[in-house]
Amino acid sequence: MVTAARAVAPLESLELPRGVALRALSLSVVYRMPRGVARVVDRVDFDLVEGAVTAIVGESGSGKTMLASALLKLVPYPGRVEGRVLYRSELLGRVVDVLSLPKEQLKRIRWREIAMVFQGAQNSFNPTMKIAEHFIDTAEAHGWRDRRAVLERARKLLEMVMLDPDRVLESYPHQLSGGMKQRALIALSLLLDPKVLILDEPTSALDTVSQKVLVDLLKDIHARLRNTMVFITHDLPLILGLAHYAAIMYAFKIVEYGPIEEIVRNPRHPYTAGLLKSVPPLRGDLRRVRTIPGTHPDPINPPRGCRFHPRCPLATEVCRRVEPKLIDVGGRHLVACHRWEEVEVDKLWS
Ligand SMILES: Nc1ncnc2c1ncn2[C@@H]1O[C@H](COP(=O)(O)OP(=O)(O)OP(=O)(O)O)[C@@H](O)[C@H]1O
Ligand code: SF4
Ligand SMILES: [Mg+2]
Repeated sequence: MVTAARAVAPLESLELPRGVALRALSLSVVYRMPRGVARVVDRVDFDLVEGAVTAIVGESGSGKTMLASALLKLVPYPGRVEGRVLYRSELLGRVVDVLSLPKEQLKRIRWREIAMVFQGAQNSFNPTMKIAEHFIDTAEAHGWRDRRAVLERARKLLEMVMLDPDRVLESYPHQLSGGMKQRALIALSLLLDPKVLILDEPTSALDTVSQKVLVDLLKDIHARLRNTMVFITHDLPLILGLAHYAAIMYAFKIVEYGPIEEIVRNPRHPYTAGLLKSVPPLRGDLRRVRTIPGTHPDPINPPRGCRFHPRCPLATEVCRRVEPKLIDVGGRHLVACHRWEEVEVDKLWS
């Protein structure tokens, strides 16, 4: 879950409550550029509930990939990650701050405990290597050298993602469709049995039917593994049956968080309401679809006060001056909006 802002704890008193798989404290990603300083993730406090699927949702450029990459200190150079990421490591036998770990320990945790499948990574399979070799290479990079055991596990995982292991292991990446590559990649990411799996827009290159198939598949996988999953997407309704919680990002911050069904049924932030209105329904009247007018802010010079105010139909003077804090409006539902009580989807974006 997302929490109200907290002070960053000193390293010697790292604690993680039961039921929390990972906790980000005042997490930022900062780029210093000739034009100015861009804070492309801006002091985010964030808990991942253990064993649950959390969706991170927001429009393009809102900071979803940067936020997820920051959890593993994997942001593109020369970005700097600030804050803390607390995680209870089984390998290291203690709660650690991922961001302060020595390089060797960080390397051990990545992929073995927290794995991330990057956006578009299905296209980064090495075209000269068969899928089997990708599994073997990944295992060897983490010190697992028993090829037979690796391939045996690969087979089980490929079956779990509904692929034919005999065919896929012997295929080169170009012999698989986009959807098959995406599923093979998910199987590969599960090779070392990570406790936390982050999937960055795994459905974005797929057609509508394949998107639904992949989401159903992930639902089955989660039911079996009960791991902690993060699913990044633009499409809130798509992951309704899969995700338990949703964190809505706007302008490099989380502006709403809660149980996903509550967020969809009863959004309290005008931006979330707008997102829901901008998704075309599978059935029904397409004329009711509304896009949110205006453009996403520049990270170097975001609007003062509430960052959504230039696009918000409810904006008032206080919104232009005072930045709203995330507050709990009941039932683990958090929102950062001065006028959350007045938000009504149909009236707001009609
Ligand atoms: N290498 C970089 N250097 C500086 N700024 C960057 C870099 N990469 C991305 N950004 C900025 O960081 C912000 C957040 O980017 P991010 O990739 O996290 O967005 P996103 O929400 O994942 O978008 P999308 O849905 O398109 O994947 C963007 O506004 C972008 O301008
Ligand atoms: S704080 Fe004001 S501008 Fe921001 S979302 Fe709420 S009503 Fe709109
Ligand atoms: Mg992204």
